[in-house]
Amino acid sequence: MTTLNYDLAVTYYDETRGFRAGVSERYRAAVRRITEAEDGTRFLELAIGTGLIGLPFMAAGDDYIGVDISRGMMRQIAPKLHDLSPPALAQADITDRLPFAADSFDVVQAVRVFHLLGDWRRCISESRRVLKPGGHLIIVEIRRPSDTSAPPPWAVVQDKWGEILRDLGVDSASIRHGNGLTDDMVLNHLCAVGGDTAMIDLLAFDELPVSCRTMVERRAKRMFSNDWALPEDLHSQAARALCEWLENECQRADDFVQQRMVFRAVIARF
Ligand SMILES: C[S@@+](CC[C@H](N)C(=O)[O-])C[C@H]1O[C@@H](n2cnc3c(N)ncnc32)[C@H](O)[C@@H]1O
Repeated sequence: MTTLNYDLAVTYYDETRGFRAGVSERYRAAVRRITEAEDGTRFLELAIGTGLIGLPFMAAGDDYIGVDISRGMMRQIAPKLHDLSPPALAQADITDRLPFAADSFDVVQAVRVFHLLGDWRRCISESRRVLKPGGHLIIVEIRRPSDTSAPPPWAVVQDKWGEILRDLGVDSASIRHGNGLTDDMVLNHLCAVGGDTAMIDLLAFDELPVSCRTMVERRAKRMFSNDWALPEDLHSQAARALCEWLENECQRADDFVQQRMVFRAVIARF
């Protein structure tokens, strides 16, 4: 799989991937606690996007730099900071050489991006290069807690969408959300390259509520990165089948459900 530039998602990213008020601030507090951050701690965020994670760090005056491959996504950040000083940002492919000197940062974090990367091992080796000795590398994905019972609407629609695409002959690698990377694969790799590692749930939070109808509409509008490579006619055919399923078979299509999720972090110190 190739790098995914989110320029396509700029106009709807915050609406579809945003958090309830206060979640990003609690995330910042959890990261600062776990890394024992102090006033001079230097942070780098890989794939900062529109700043949904980074903004509270920047707004609080942390020494915080973000990189992303998408200038469009990063352009959304400055207006959100209002009168504060402009954010420190750089365009870079995080699976290539990072534009920073060795031993520059105390904390390097990457949230909701490793599942999109091709050469994720290169990203880890570059992160190690720019980390100071003893610094923290934090790789975070959002997961359902292990004790979750009924699947939430987005998971129901995602499964149905996969079934429809398979019936239309799309291969399973294209249907899968992302590169198939698991937290254990990241953890094992970090151990293998000499990291002192841990996997923890940094924070539990409630997602913004969604219904199956909302998720079907988002699929039909191609709002998910794993649909971007589908040919237009195939996507339209699949979207029609999904809408038919919603109207005729889906249980509780309009119930809004708020799912409990966790920020699961794989952390390494070198
Ligand atoms: C799902 S968004 C996550 C953004 C942010 N971390 C968040 O949690 O809201 C993924 C981001 O990764 C960026 N991205 C994907 N591949 C990248 C790469 N190879 N180098 C830099 N950024 C990349 C995309 O442009 C997008 O902004």
